[in-house]
Amino acid sequence: MKPIEENDLTLRIREDADAVEQALSVRWLADVGTHAPLLGEAMRWAVLGGGKRVRAFLCLEIARILAPGTDALDYACALELLHASSLVHDDMPEMDNDDIRRGKPSCHKQFGPAIALMAGDALIALAFRAAAGDADRAAEAVSVLSEAGGWQGIASGQTLDLLSEGRRISLEELKTLQRLKTGRLIVAAAELGALAARASAEKTRDFAAYAEAIGQAFQVTDDLLDAGESGSDRARDLATFLRFMTPEEALAYAAKLTEKGKDAIRKYPGTELLLSFADRLLARTC
Ligand code: IPE
Ligand code: IPE
Ligand code: MG
Ligand code: MG
Repeated sequence: MKPIEENDLTLRIREDADAVEQALSVRWLADVGTHAPLLGEAMRWAVLGGGKRVRAFLCLEIARILAPGTDALDYACALELLHASSLVHDDMPEMDNDDIRRGKPSCHKQFGPAIALMAGDALIALAFRAAAGDADRAAEAVSVLSEAGGWQGIASGQTLDLLSEGRRISLEELKTLQRLKTGRLIVAAAELGALAARASAEKTRDFAAYAEAIGQAFQVTDDLLDAGESGSDRARDLATFLRFMTPEEALAYAAKLTEKGKDAIRKYPGTELLLSFADRLLARTC
């Protein structure tokens, strides 16, 4: 029998994912086809009905731990909107050229590259609108999201990732590019959760350190999963951890990062689910 904690975690993740799906659909994506129905369809296609909602969960759970009763749903939606936009662009022929995303045709396969480009752009803009929802903290939330998505984060990370194709880059360069393309948004999830809870700088730093470490582990696991399933990274000779270590070493490395992340928040009460969430991410199969 699984420990009770594990079941609690499954339930909590599902409840959060449902709440986020609902808010995304009804609050943020209801009117997006008003002027150009096809654009709206493509935006909804890219965001709804799939995704593990890892970033949303981190944000909501951290907000709850730091100030029970906090409503961080708009921030959780902002994170998922920005994340979805990055996936739309990531799959396009000029980038990873992937036909399938979340078990269905990727946005450009379904709607064509021009509409997908616009849908990705519109999702970025919408993410900022969602982050600005709370007038009190709008400036800070928008700035956290901007630094995760723009030149300080995803855009530079993705650029370095593409430029790594077929090139010998060092392990340090790989870590930097992954921190930018994936890690920053995961850290932003923790920061927005802490911001929603109006947490102190010290608490924000500790939860961000947790997110930073599990975000690194997440990317190592992603490389392992990609190599195991489609092998598309290796086929294209993209830089992955498997250029530097065996799968067993990579898993051990991810496990070490996971422990490091857990150590950053262990001292806080109420973190049990977040601690098992780190293990859950390490053991994920998709
Ligand atoms: C996939 O992220 C892309 C990376 C940043 C590694 P996720 O694995 O979180 O994708 P979804 O949201 O669950 O589809
Ligand atoms: C996607 O990274 C990261 C971003 C969209 C920022 P990958 O290209 O490694 O992820 P998958 O394998 O397509 O999900
Ligand atoms: Mg990519
Ligand atoms: Mg990709």
